[in-house]
Amino acid sequence: MRNFIIDTDTASDDAVALLMALRQPDIDVKAITVVAGNVPLPLAVQNALYTVELCGADAPVYAGCAKPLLRDLETAQDVHGRDGLGDIGLPLEGRTPAAGHAADALREVVNAHAGDITLVTLGPLTNVALALLREPELAGRVSHCWIMGGIGSGHGNVTPTAEFNIWVDPEAAKVVYESGMKMTMVGWDISWRYATFDAEQAAEIRRIGTPLAEFVIDIQATLTEFSMRENDLAGFDLPDPITMAAAIDPSIAQYRDYRVDVTTGEGLERGITVVDVLGVAKRAPQMRVATSANRAAFVDMLKRSVS
Ligand code: RIB
Ligand code: CA
Repeated sequence: MRNFIIDTDTASDDAVALLMALRQPDIDVKAITVVAGNVPLPLAVQNALYTVELCGADAPVYAGCAKPLLRDLETAQDVHGRDGLGDIGLPLEGRTPAAGHAADALREVVNAHAGDITLVTLGPLTNVALALLREPELAGRVSHCWIMGGIGSGHGNVTPTAEFNIWVDPEAAKVVYESGMKMTMVGWDISWRYATFDAEQAAEIRRIGTPLAEFVIDIQATLTEFSMRENDLAGFDLPDPITMAAAIDPSIAQYRDYRVDVTTGEGLERGITVVDVLGVAKRAPQMRVATSANRAAFVDMLKRSVS
């Protein structure tokens, strides 16, 4: 068994990533820590609790930061739906999270499993940064941190230069990127190139016919409309799930080590992940960056998780 802890701003792609981990027989999800991002914190907490229940799992869910470290919260409800899961009328209310703050849960779980805990982050890095600021030594106790965030190469999705998770809380991202953790960044470029689903590809998964297969497709309703209208895609894309797939089986992607810095300015200077591809800054690489991925292997893993 491998120990995982997952930090998420639970919306329509996060829920699929959570499901993939919860349904993986050799992974023990020790905790799910929730952060505001795609949707306000209370909705993200309810969405995580709903997903855990749907999977028949018992991973504890902790509520974390309701806003970025310094900035106001900017959500993406226009992308994922007001409720974050496609506004398809799911019963997403009334569930109770575990007691305690997510940043404390992160510290407790990492300390309890020092050297044997994989952290997967699917949202803004506010909770993770808070835990690291409180206890910097955590960085050496996380076996590996898989970050869905930033851009390995190419264009942004929230501004021309920035990806949403990093852009929402750039200060938190800077803390994490400079923490010394062993880290892999799976940028939105990987999702845009290897994790898109057009109508037929989505229907192929939905035809598996299980409640989970229908769930993972139906909750993409708003994301599909948005992606086709705004992101020049033929359907929806699944950034968090392809990141989770790589965390589950690193061989599905290819990587290069780079120095990556995060900008904390405003406008076009906000939340850029600056990848020093040529090493011109002469600073030691601290981030493994996914440069390509195997779509077929990812889709096979996704199909298995809902079958
Ligand atoms: O930019 C994509 C990321 O932002 C994904 O994690 C998605 O869920 C949103 O949080
Ligand atoms: Ca997310």
